[in-house]
Amino acid sequence: MTVSSDDELEALKRIGRIVANTLEAMGKAIAPGMTTRELDGIGRAFLAAHGARPAPELAYGFPGATCISVNEEIAHGIPGDRRIGPGDLVNIDVSAERDGYFSDTGASFAVPPVTRAVERLCRDGRRALWTGLRQVGADRPLAGIGQAVGAFAKQNGYTLVRNLASHGVGLSLHEDPKEIATWPDASERRIMGEGLVFTVEPFLSRGATVAEDGGDPWTLYGHPRAPTVQYEHTVVATRAGPLVLTMPG
Ligand code: CO
Ligand code: CO
Repeated sequence: MTVSSDDELEALKRIGRIVANTLEAMGKAIAPGMTTRELDGIGRAFLAAHGARPAPELAYGFPGATCISVNEEIAHGIPGDRRIGPGDLVNIDVSAERDGYFSDTGASFAVPPVTRAVERLCRDGRRALWTGLRQVGADRPLAGIGQAVGAFAKQNGYTLVRNLASHGVGLSLHEDPKEIATWPDASERRIMGEGLVFTVEPFLSRGATVAEDGGDPWTLYGHPRAPTVQYEHTVVATRAGPLVLTMPG
């Protein structure tokens, strides 16, 4: 969507803060021995307490309030009986709706003990996200995001998952502009109009280049298998640059 009034912006900020606070609460709650279903329950309760509805369930009938993907799973993991263990890399993706407005955020969390390589991957995953976000602004090319993230990944010896794109959001979970690449894409010619609302969510990896289906209709796996992280914010393109909506507070 494109923001057209202060009221719309306020509603987007409200749901943006709710998903960000939910993600933060879930991240803090991660503990070895907990099942991903238990972790999802914490997110579900937090969203409900703030008047928000889980978007994956609402929009797609996803079997969970949030997507929780562990290690070889990199996206759309189904909360269930899997127990989180020491050394696991846990991605939580929280998207939700309130008052008709949607927001989407995500982060990867490393459960101690954490190897230096995974610690670095998590730090650089956040840096990749912010490298992309800094390219956001009214009348700027969408292609700038993928070019900047691609250069960052190359400089630092990482791969990017090239079939999980960013997307417009706001009046639904996934809307126009669709398929915003967080990797260099020579065919991308679109411009960010003032007030455009979308996500930036690069998947940074130590080797994976694509996400592939597995044994259920939802879970996506990195290929080739390698530690992979995703960090995601919802952002508005403004005259002053990026306005990140999914900050906790
Ligand atoms: Co997301
Ligand atoms: Co998203």
